[in-house]
Amino acid sequence: MENLIFVIFGGSGDLTRRKLIPALYNLYKEKRVPVFFRILGVGRTQYNDETYRAHLKEYLSNQVRNDEWEEDVAQEFLASVHYFSMDQTLESEYIKLKERLGEIDLGCTNYIYYLATPPALYDKIPLYLKSSGLNLADCNDVGKGVRRVIVEKPFGYDLDSAERINEIFHSVFKEEDIYRIDHFLGKETVQNILALRFANGILEPIWNRNYVERVEITAVENLGVGSRGGYYEGSGALRDMVQNHLVQLLALVAMEPPRQYNEKEFRDEVVKVYKSLKPLTDRDIESNVIRGQYTTSSLPGKIGYRQEKGVNPDSHTETFLAMKLFIENWRWEGVPFYIRTGKEMPTKVTEIVIHFRPTPHTLFSARKEIPANNQLIIRIQPNEGALLKLDMKVPGPGFEVKQVTMDFTYDKLGVLPTEDAYSRLIEDCMNGESVLFTRSDAVIESWRFFDRILTFWKTANPPLYGYPAGTWGPLESDALFSGTARWTNPCKNLINTDLYCEL
Ligand code: BG6
Repeated sequence: MENLIFVIFGGSGDLTRRKLIPALYNLYKEKRVPVFFRILGVGRTQYNDETYRAHLKEYLSNQVRNDEWEEDVAQEFLASVHYFSMDQTLESEYIKLKERLGEIDLGCTNYIYYLATPPALYDKIPLYLKSSGLNLADCNDVGKGVRRVIVEKPFGYDLDSAERINEIFHSVFKEEDIYRIDHFLGKETVQNILALRFANGILEPIWNRNYVERVEITAVENLGVGSRGGYYEGSGALRDMVQNHLVQLLALVAMEPPRQYNEKEFRDEVVKVYKSLKPLTDRDIESNVIRGQYTTSSLPGKIGYRQEKGVNPDSHTETFLAMKLFIENWRWEGVPFYIRTGKEMPTKVTEIVIHFRPTPHTLFSARKEIPANNQLIIRIQPNEGALLKLDMKVPGPGFEVKQVTMDFTYDKLGVLPTEDAYSRLIEDCMNGESVLFTRSDAVIESWRFFDRILTFWKTANPPLYGYPAGTWGPLESDALFSGTARWTNPCKNLINTDLYCEL
């Protein structure tokens, strides 16, 4: 792109100051934005360019790591930021927005619209962009004056609304210009799942139901909803994390190797996984989906979800969800996938554990610990890396066997994955690369699977288990496993696999 105006709807919101502006600053600092580059924040709050810049600067200096902060670059960057105050729900305001953009526009300028607003606006903003002509390139030169839109998750509240929003977006933009963002896909370590699986021949023969007993995917956080209570009330863990981030991780673990890594073939394989998720019956949901909500705990400073700002004191919104699901295809038939997410858990960690089947016959019985199977742990964050658990003989007489670990952490590559997921994805959008964005059929297929849970919850109102803030969630979620298996509760440090470790 030669030039770009990056328009942020929801410009005065939390996501803009916490993620988007720092990501854009990093791209700007590294000269990874077009030569002519302007940002226009759009929001209801009253700012002018100067007060908006001052507001952003305060957050930016705290968000950006010290070694990435350069005062003069930050000043230059902020000088490219503008603000337009408007009611984004009013169609008539969009003509004024167009005029404001006209003041910045050089002619034949490319626009990226970023929808960082509450999802309730997704059925308005695109239509108003269309009625004011802001969705169309006003340039006769082919490939110039492009109009793209980036949409935050959750894309829809359920299957019906996702289909409706998709239709609305498609009536305004071409699918290739719609970038549904799932920032997990922008994480280096998430992309590394593909490298681990498809750049290493040794894993493929064992990556299936013959060798894998079960898979666990955990993405938990040690904070509550904080200032996002209002948003979270209408969302809950299923819409906020599971229907998008967690199922995306599951797709990367379970997908078939794409013939090529490109936006069609990679995303085709993701969709195939979603289509193969075994539909849940009411009974499955009752026994295989556990929802919870954090309550006050004895830990200092921990309040219950119902006491959070913006939350209904009788709220039934889930802040924890754990479930068992199956994929119906040759590779994964019968292998349970356990996924779990929660707010106010003991630590913030995202990891995938592949549990391999035990040996067919036990040769070494003189072991002191309970036999454990081989496991491959893929740590997405923090302490990024991968770890393989193997059994080894303890030196000395007899034949005692003990589990040890073989690990790889990113620092061994000489570079840590420092890049923020948003920088990567925004840059991809500038370059017209959509492989790491969610295609419309993927959103629909994912909703088709998860919508049944929402419907069941509405009609049957199954238990919502309380768990004290700072704990691993309701104990009932252990009942998803059979035999002696339990959740792997990760330590902060990947290579520390002790039961009582630092969290
Ligand atoms: C966001 C969710 O998409 O992901 C948040 O809305 C959650 O509730 C966040 O905290 C987690 O992302 P990360 O990158 O911090 O693990």
